[in-house]
Amino acid sequence: MNDFEQLYGRPSEGEWAAPGRVNLIGEHTDYNLGFVLPIALPQTVRAQAARSGDGLLRLWSAQGRELVALPVDDLAPGSVPGWAGYPAGVVWALREAGYPVGGADLRLDSDVPSGAGLSSSAALECVVAAAYNDLYGLGLSAVELAVLAQRAENAFVGVPCGIMDQMASMCCRPGVALFLDSRDLTMRQVPVDLAGAGLALLVLDTRVKHDLGDGAYAALRAGCERAAALLGLPALRSLQPSGLADALAQLPSELVPLVRHVVTENARVEDAVAGLDAGDPAALGPILTAGHASLRDDYRVSCPETDLAVEAAVAAGAHGARMTGGGFGGSVIALVDADAAGHVAAEVTAAFRAAGYAEPRTLTAVPAEGARRLR
Ligand code: GLA
Repeated sequence: MNDFEQLYGRPSEGEWAAPGRVNLIGEHTDYNLGFVLPIALPQTVRAQAARSGDGLLRLWSAQGRELVALPVDDLAPGSVPGWAGYPAGVVWALREAGYPVGGADLRLDSDVPSGAGLSSSAALECVVAAAYNDLYGLGLSAVELAVLAQRAENAFVGVPCGIMDQMASMCCRPGVALFLDSRDLTMRQVPVDLAGAGLALLVLDTRVKHDLGDGAYAALRAGCERAAALLGLPALRSLQPSGLADALAQLPSELVPLVRHVVTENARVEDAVAGLDAGDPAALGPILTAGHASLRDDYRVSCPETDLAVEAAVAAGAHGARMTGGGFGGSVIALVDADAAGHVAAEVTAAFRAAGYAEPRTLTAVPAEGARRLR
């Protein structure tokens, strides 16, 4: 008998997986309707699941070792605290959108580090969306499921995130980065042959807990929306680098660095894609480091630990490095020569030790597969 049967007394109907992500470049651009360039991680959230006939959503987490049972008819925004809010929010969003789904029993397991800026929440939402899509025969596309998962997080959990993480978890493919236009969700899979270029992508989790729910993210998003409104634009995406200086001159000083980050960051995504299209992934290096400076100095979502990880990685020979994800802690990515990965990781660890910080957790990221059914 496997764990699902022990929990629920019957076999599951299937098993699904959805990955975490790292974003190569394009941070805080998605809710400004700009460009992003994430890859999926090999680390996933997995769900074994079966429909239930009693209108209950039962959720068991192998990490929390906790069983939560929720009547699907009673699901309402803000009503489910903690990790269970993400899967419950997806079921709520499906029903809100008119899909007559009922309950299910789920056994959830994850190796995506949580609170590390690697989108463990989006992976949790997306695995439940994928499982429900198949269990209830909804026939929704990966993009439709990503949009519903984002709605769960925005309206049910109450985090005003953009669409990047859910699109990455649903739509990424092995060996490529997802070049996504957040305005219309058009996308292109851009080959990222790091190994072929003798490179590797290190992920350094600073272990500084990143929490998007604390209001700072919402305040930044609101600042961007206010700037766009003052400039008479539908979103900051519409501002081109050529119009930046004029636009900045019209804005109150507190909005200037936000707008400068978003406009330059969109351009960095386009530059990164050009480098990848030219078969030159090493060209990403300086773009990553410039992106970090912009997040640190203009957007101000960095922190001493992420700054130190970037500095130490570059000093140890990385082609470039930057924080990835929402910020306020979380993870740093560093583009390194494959044979120098161990050295760079060791140098960053030594710098953390010298500064009295907890040791970072290190992984090597290879562009992996998006959400899928395992059996
Ligand atoms: C978080 C959000 C995303 C995106 C990033 C910053 O990961 O969930 O939508 O805004 O922050 O780029």
